[in-house]
Amino acid sequence: MINIALPKGRLGEKVYALLASVGYKCDAYDENSRKLVFRDEKGGVSYFWVKPTDVAVYVERGAADVGVVGKDIIEDGSPDVYELADLGMGKCRMCVAAKNDWYDDTSRPLRVATKFVNVAKKYYAKLGRDIEVIRLNGSIELAPILDMSDVIVDIVETGTTLKENDLKVFADIFPISARLVANKAAYKFKNSEILTLAQKLTAEVTK
Ligand code: PRP
Repeated sequence: MINIALPKGRLGEKVYALLASVGYKCDAYDENSRKLVFRDEKGGVSYFWVKPTDVAVYVERGAADVGVVGKDIIEDGSPDVYELADLGMGKCRMCVAAKNDWYDDTSRPLRVATKFVNVAKKYYAKLGRDIEVIRLNGSIELAPILDMSDVIVDIVETGTTLKENDLKVFADIFPISARLVANKAAYKFKNSEILTLAQKLTAEVTK
């Protein structure tokens, strides 16, 4: 039995469709159900859907053998898991953005609003720039609009949110996509099952 944690939402549904197409279909799965675990004894697969930011926790602690998680969450949380494949889905980028007319006043610490506190700290430490981090949980773009922060470190997908709020990208930090990750112990004890799954997924997304 291989246990797979998927992120709830559109990305998780897409990843499930991909897994089903390469032989990991779960007959018990019903997207309208409120059930949290779906097992397919025959196919030897068990799925559970969790909050996207929690997938790495379930995998790191071995509750799931493998999972699918965004590169943003891996970079920010540094979970102790193996990253096995880039699924090429959920593509976006981690950026620094600010008001269109923003300029950096280097005489004082930069106020950075973000959900990705560790990403922001690492990025500005490398640049040797002092920052004050303002941790938010969503609608990060509001912070510079209300002058609560100078910049934001956030995900940009289409750029629409920035554009509609008179903000723009000032720097790209790294590209993001969905990654297949594995629990380290499971990778040892279920090695051939996990490698087979990773290879099938990679073959499908690169064909
Ligand atoms: C993300 C991100 C941006 C937006 C970018 O937010 O934080 O706000 O998407 O997408 P765009 O470039 O296509 O406009 P999300 O929708 O996850 O919600 P949040 O504001 O609660 O973080």
